[in-house]
Amino acid sequence: MGILHFTNGTKAEPLARGDCFTRGDELFRWPVVTDGMRQAVLDVLNSFSMSGTAVTDQFETEFARWTGAKYALGFNNGTSALKTAMYAAGLGAGDELICPGITYWASCAQALSLRASVVFADIEEETMCIDPDDIERRITPRTKAVMVVHYIGHPCDMDRIMPVARKHNLKVIEDVSHAQGSLYKGRMCGTLGDVAAMSCMSAKAFAIGEAGMLVTGSQEIYERAVMFGRIEHIKDVKDPELLRTAGIPMSGEKYRMHQMSSAVGLELLKDYPARIREIDEAMNYFADAVDQLPGLKVVRTAKGSGSTMGGWYYPACHYRPEELEGLSIGAFTRALTAEGVPHCKPGCNFSLFEHPLFFETDVYGEGHPVNRVPAGMDYPVCNRIHERIFSIPWFKHPDKTRIERFIAAYRKVAENYRELLPLDTFKNEHYSLTAFTPGLSKLFENRRKNATV
Ligand SMILES: Cc1ncc(COP(=O)(O)O)c(C=O)c1O
Repeated sequence: MGILHFTNGTKAEPLARGDCFTRGDELFRWPVVTDGMRQAVLDVLNSFSMSGTAVTDQFETEFARWTGAKYALGFNNGTSALKTAMYAAGLGAGDELICPGITYWASCAQALSLRASVVFADIEEETMCIDPDDIERRITPRTKAVMVVHYIGHPCDMDRIMPVARKHNLKVIEDVSHAQGSLYKGRMCGTLGDVAAMSCMSAKAFAIGEAGMLVTGSQEIYERAVMFGRIEHIKDVKDPELLRTAGIPMSGEKYRMHQMSSAVGLELLKDYPARIREIDEAMNYFADAVDQLPGLKVVRTAKGSGSTMGGWYYPACHYRPEELEGLSIGAFTRALTAEGVPHCKPGCNFSLFEHPLFFETDVYGEGHPVNRVPAGMDYPVCNRIHERIFSIPWFKHPDKTRIERFIAAYRKVAENYRELLPLDTFKNEHYSLTAFTPGLSKLFENRRKNATV
């Protein structure tokens, strides 16, 4: 075994050139563009119906059938689908939306333009999803809804979340952007709360271009969603109050899906279940081996639980420095990189409560922060997670021979970590938003100093 280094190290078993990520590498290539998709897009082009709705109507029908939801609506992106879901769930002026402190900003930032506020809850370290107990602690008389995010494909603990929501009369909105096809105890994510919305942009597991979907089982929520931004479906709306604004979307915005995306979506639905089965086999094969190593545990659902990771969007591994005599995550991931392993970056989405938009920015010139409940910082798990999680390769096929070579690199670094200890100068590195944005870092330090919580 060669000595471990962070760069240009002696590599006892370096990964062969083709084992590393390249754009065309079959093992990682995503999204998969099939001949059927190419033809479907050409058909839309040739029929001059890019802005029409017939293909989208068909896609919505098929998407609803696949998820098991009663209604599905196509959107131009996930951000608009989620904003519509918030409005449709009843979020409005003065209300509060509870959202996990770590997720992509589009799980919640739109609430501000609905004149509502965002209140963050901590996450659970094991699942990376919102902590159901912390939801309950954050509820106030103004709380209207909870945004649950099935983060990196892991389903939220809905059996603990739904009773809390029902007890306090809150609507539950699911952000399924990372979890199309994930199951929670055998049930499809997106059908567990009151309404769900998601991104289907091309980096996601369900990738069809710039696009988003909303699904719900509620006629009332569906009608509000239609009137807010998808008025092409007005024929489905029965509520006379809602129909008073017929002709103009209530959002003042137009959210219809581009039909080239709908056409790709119809094709993708044909083989998405098979594709995610392959990903699941590949990732579980990798995770079974990595979980045996000290300090490492892949984020995934328990076997036999009936819960699954869908397409394993942006997979990650827990890092427990206490099992490796305090070796920093920076040192560990640099050693993996030196072994030729791609995709091993510490951290995850930055903690949203660190961003000024949620505690001090006056977006609309009202003389006060747009978020009327300025975010605090009392989120113990969010605050430590960036140094305890790193991204791992997203294998698309169960090519066990090649996956074994990645496992060998992980094994080499994890089992010989002691060689790295004297070289570890990375202990003070941080991977949250403020670490990368010096201006924000100062601001955050001041907040910490002045914090009463
Ligand atoms: C969790 C989550 N929610 C919402 C979005 C926003 O979707 P879009 O980029 O399609 O607007 C994304 C990513 O793009 C996301 O990761």
